Amino acid sequence: MPAGGVELKPKTHILTYEEIVRLSRLFASLGVTKIRLTGGEPLIRKEIEELVVQLSSIPGIRELAITTNGLLLSKKLAALKAGGVTLFNISLDTLQKDKFLKVTRRQGLDEVLRAIQDTLRAGYNPVKVNAVVMKGFNDDELVDFVAMTRHQPIEIRFIEYMPFGGNEWTDGEFMSYQDMLGIIRQVYPDLERLQDGPEETSKTWRVPGFLGRIGFISSMSDHFCSGCNRIRMTADGQLKVCLFGNREVNLRDMMREGASDDELKAAIHGAVTKKKAAHAGMYELAHSDNRPMILIGG
Ligand SMILES: C[S@@+](CC[C@H](N)C(=O)[O-])C[C@H]1O[C@@H](n2cnc3c(N)ncnc32)[C@H](O)[C@@H]1O
Repeated sequence: MPAGGVELKPKTHILTYEEIVRLSRLFASLGVTKIRLTGGEPLIRKEIEELVVQLSSIPGIRELAITTNGLLLSKKLAALKAGGVTLFNISLDTLQKDKFLKVTRRQGLDEVLRAIQDTLRAGYNPVKVNAVVMKGFNDDELVDFVAMTRHQPIEIRFIEYMPFGGNEWTDGEFMSYQDMLGIIRQVYPDLERLQDGPEETSKTWRVPGFLGRIGFISSMSDHFCSGCNRIRMTADGQLKVCLFGNREVNLRDMMREGASDDELKAAIHGAVTKKKAAHAGMYELAHSDNRPMILIGG
């Protein structure tokens, strides 16, 4: 979120639940098997519990995931689980209260830690925890995060800090996957690499004997574009075939102007086939035009 916030869209610009479900059915008919709700913050959207019921019952959808800041999760967990959510990613960049306030501009560390425990207790395995690593901010906490994987099926995902509109990214704050590994190996020298599937965006490791795992999202230092099969719909109905690309296809207006399912499918197919072989490097991205992360969703 840029420090000055973002301009809120009029409600009419945002996809309705009917539109989200229609598009999800179309994507499922084209072979999509997993949907992730992100944001903004998905758990502040009204009646999210109703939406997950509809999405999880779409034929072909095998996994329904949510990425959340965790603040409202404990309250909504039972309904989301009953509604068919199969996976949670909870964002947590620091385990220290003063830093939490700095990075999120609010209090709430205890709520997020409680949400992680509640999600584990509800039987989710793994519970994924996303930490964006910034040099000089939280790189001194890497081993504390790894320690969380000792007795619990938590998968800590260390994400390389990426440039987006309004986040004032500098390479001084950037820490690469290799450098993170180096720091963690000083304490856990026998860290071992696990086998990842061909479409996995994270490189997975484990400390032998620990219940949980560690994943690294190395989008900047070692991109995984060739295996990436993700596509994104923004809240205002734009299809993005790459997190770092600024090309968008306006499926919202197509739907509102009466496009048939076949016309929408053709537009989706056209966009996906134009997906580039790889996204630009971080220095180029730092100067290119893209939405702030808060308006994409990760
Ligand atoms: C944009 S958030 C949206 C969902 C939800 N509000 C949350 O906090 O998880 C999705 C993910 O993107 C990550 N993220 C945000 N800015 C990022 C950046 N500059 N580089 C890498 N990851 C980033 C967040 O840490 C979070 O895990």
